[in-house]
Amino acid sequence: MLKFNCKNAASFLSDGELEALQAQLKIADCALHDGTNLGADFLGWVDLPTEYDKAELQKIKECAARLRREVDCLVVIGIGGSYLGARAVHSAFAQSLTGQIKNSPEIIYSGFQLSGDYMNELLAYLKDKRFAINVISKSGTTTEPAVSFRILRSLLEKQVGSDKAKSLIFATTDAHKGALKKFATEKGYQTFVVPDNVGGRFTVLTAVGLFPLAVSGVNVDELLAGAGQMQKLCAETKDLSNPAWKYAALRNSLYRQGKAIEILVNYDLRLNYLSEWWKQLYGESEGKFKRGIFPAAVSNTTDLHSMGQFIQEGSRNLFETVLWINNSNSVCLIPDDPQNIDGLNFLSNKNLQEVNHNAMLGTSLAHADGGVPNSLITLDKISENELGQLLYFFEYACGLSGYLNAVNPFNQPGVEHYKQNMYALIGKPGFEKQKEILEARLNK
Ligand code: PA5
Repeated sequence: MLKFNCKNAASFLSDGELEALQAQLKIADCALHDGTNLGADFLGWVDLPTEYDKAELQKIKECAARLRREVDCLVVIGIGGSYLGARAVHSAFAQSLTGQIKNSPEIIYSGFQLSGDYMNELLAYLKDKRFAINVISKSGTTTEPAVSFRILRSLLEKQVGSDKAKSLIFATTDAHKGALKKFATEKGYQTFVVPDNVGGRFTVLTAVGLFPLAVSGVNVDELLAGAGQMQKLCAETKDLSNPAWKYAALRNSLYRQGKAIEILVNYDLRLNYLSEWWKQLYGESEGKFKRGIFPAAVSNTTDLHSMGQFIQEGSRNLFETVLWINNSNSVCLIPDDPQNIDGLNFLSNKNLQEVNHNAMLGTSLAHADGGVPNSLITLDKISENELGQLLYFFEYACGLSGYLNAVNPFNQPGVEHYKQNMYALIGKPGFEKQKEILEARLNK
């Protein structure tokens, strides 16, 4: 079961500081259930693990089972909340060297950026592969995935013909509206629903995450079950013994002391996309009204040799949240060497995981001594159940934190600004005036 420990932050807190936030947490917590605060239309994620549409889940599993038999790879097209959840969980189960889960279709991501070189590489890679497409966009109008879908659909139709392509394209989008829904209905693609009341970055436990994960071989029932365990804990425990309450209280206490940057730290590069998912979840949810904790991430011990100096001795506006997995999947023993020229025999027959663990313990103490409070989230192992708990824990604490900071954690109005400028510059109809203004500014 997920555990949260903030011993290495205790000396940064005054007596009773976390407890003093309990009254505000209680209000925030109520609002997540009764919809009495901002963003009340986007609370569908709170009950998702237990309330998930069973018929849709069954369909997801059936389609995924067919694809596992029929294709070499699934291209997941989406950006932001429409791909990061799947990528986070998929990467955690993948082999570090290949980025893929053994004996399963490859999961390849597209539509999350606009590099033409990436796209050409992908087109060349897919040329002799049996592939399917899962295009994911709640709005159905986001430029990056829409462009990527047009290009990849064209390749697939050329490779297998339009009729066969139909059975290999899956659209995950709004139940009724949007360009993608319209297109999918016209073409007769299988569609999955992004529920109206779940915002993009909270959709990992909907078809957005579950379908690609089921194709990759992840046990989605167990993922939902783990999330359900954390949902139950959060529904029943309304004090600081709830790890989500404690995490929300700690990060907000530290923020109010001027610690404006939170670094999520892992010690296993398979968790790097979990950090990317977390960065989006917290960054987009909290960064509003010129306020908010800036979410950053490092992967150790790699980054101790790049960012470690800054964390130890740079600006003191940081705190860390360390994610540690108690049990590795395998044992890797360091061999004995009778000659011991490298002087490493003190490590002979030790499991590398034990060395990594001591690196984590030593680093956390050093950073606390250097003025960087840190807390520790532990999972027993990388399993669907434990990852499900972790996803829900972060979502719940994010909802609480947003309300503690008096922002709507479920919107992202600031994202529109770049879109308007990009539309104007690439010549989207309706943006002619804005194009003139921007081009004049750029040519100055
Ligand atoms: O959290 C969010 O709502 C966003 O990050 C969206 O997920 C992202 O912008 C993609 O949007 P869409 O699914 O509409 O293409």
